[in-house]
Amino acid sequence: MNTLIKSMKVFPALPELLSYLKDSFIHTMRESIERQGNCTIALSGGTTPQIFYKTLAAETQLPWDKLYFFMVDERFVPFGHADHNFTTIQKAFFDLVPIPPQNLYSIDTSLTSASLAAAAYDRSIQQFFKVHSPQSFPSFDIILLGIGPDGHTASLFPGTSALEEKSLCSISVQTNSVKHERITLTFPVLNNAKNVFFLVTGADKQNILRKICVEQADYPAARVCPAQGSRLFILDKSAAPLEALERL
Ligand code: 6PG
Repeated sequence: MNTLIKSMKVFPALPELLSYLKDSFIHTMRESIERQGNCTIALSGGTTPQIFYKTLAAETQLPWDKLYFFMVDERFVPFGHADHNFTTIQKAFFDLVPIPPQNLYSIDTSLTSASLAAAAYDRSIQQFFKVHSPQSFPSFDIILLGIGPDGHTASLFPGTSALEEKSLCSISVQTNSVKHERITLTFPVLNNAKNVFFLVTGADKQNILRKICVEQADYPAARVCPAQGSRLFILDKSAAPLEALERL
């Protein structure tokens, strides 16, 4: 059996999926805090994870002061805009829990360009993790990713030069595939994570998951494969390729 199918976990219904993902997060948070005193987490925007953020917000007993949240990517629109990832996550999650504001690392979209915002984010990541790219990259304890129907993940879109970035933690991306300019973490960062979770639900994702996980076609999401860490595809039944359903 091919390795990508082995890294899929398929759930017949959303409540079980959410509870599994929540438990995995909490387990990793505890382990990381025990090991290094904190847990660093990068969250994706988009629609799919919003319900998971609400699930996490209901967990009142998390060690909030030891959790540090970063953005996987951002759309270059002002704070408060309906398409702004940080604002959306703030409403569903951060605003509902007692997390110290200094533990939240957003991308500054009030700067004059997406490339300046990406450079500022790159610097704050380097400072927080005490790393100095291009030689070294942060190792997030958890990165939560989604997959777009075109195979993008984070804001790493097919055919963009961002896919080739090897030096920076964060860069800006311009592509006709989406409405707004983006800022995204790069592959060296995604592939240096300790735990990557892909959260993918809905029948409209079955086709791309099949191409990535069964046919092993070269899409951006397929290039996320942490060298030292784990990668898990968490899927609902409607998104799962048939080959994965056979294992249910
Ligand atoms: C964003 C993302 C993006 C997202 C995928 C999947 O800002 O949109 O971070 O990479 O994860 O587009 O989005 P859905 O899960 O909502 O389909």
